[in-house]
Amino acid sequence: MNTPVNILAIVGSYRKGGIIERAVDEILASAREAGALTRKITLLDKHLAFCTNCRSCTQVAGDNYGVCILDDDMGGLLQEIERADALVLASPMNAGTVTALMKTFIERLVCTAYWPWGSPAPKARRPGKSKRALLVASSAAPGMIARLTGDVTKRLKSAATMLGAETVGTLFIGLAAQQQHQELNKKTIHKARKLGRKLAAGKAA
Ligand SMILES: Cc1cc2nc3c(=O)[nH]c(=O)nc-3n(C[C@H](O)[C@H](O)[C@H](O)COP(=O)(O)O)c2cc1C
Repeated sequence: MNTPVNILAIVGSYRKGGIIERAVDEILASAREAGALTRKITLLDKHLAFCTNCRSCTQVAGDNYGVCILDDDMGGLLQEIERADALVLASPMNAGTVTALMKTFIERLVCTAYWPWGSPAPKARRPGKSKRALLVASSAAPGMIARLTGDVTKRLKSAATMLGAETVGTLFIGLAAQQQHQELNKKTIHKARKLGRKLAAGKAA
């Protein structure tokens, strides 16, 4: 029997039960039905401090992620990420980009790079892509317009790359703020479930 794919979702929405969480739940449910192991982390439940730009975590060379001086939940989160084969990175589009919750998480990923003082730019500690990632985003604007005017998927994709994951699919849910408690439409559910199966099966894009 094949080892099940271990999928970790990281949710950057401010709302539990909102459109982003519903979409992620559909993806994970269909992945589980296809034999994957899944876990969801809601950043809202975690204590993540702002990166202070001390750059301690970027000074020591090597494959291991740098150690942050801040004592919060980021270390545990990185350990869970290391154990995962596949990631789902999800955020609503707020003010044209990812939420501040997701941005805080992304900034803390600077520890995935080696960037000693004197060096102009960070270098990925592990430039390869051994994981796969799905991106999930939502917007009040129609999806096409939101994708053209905002950078939410670009930010999520760059986070996936920093974590050594190749992006194999994107679910962008436009017109997501028509009602206070909006349901996913049938087309979105279908796409979410298809992406969940794809992640569970380990297929490339
Ligand atoms: C502070 C704030 C800023 C927002 N900015 C944008 C935006 O720039 N473009 C857009 O299309 N929708 C914007 N929205 C709408 C959200 O993207 C939408 O409510 C969200 O995708 C729903 O996700 P959720 O149900 O998981 O909370 C914004 C919403 C809030 C509260």
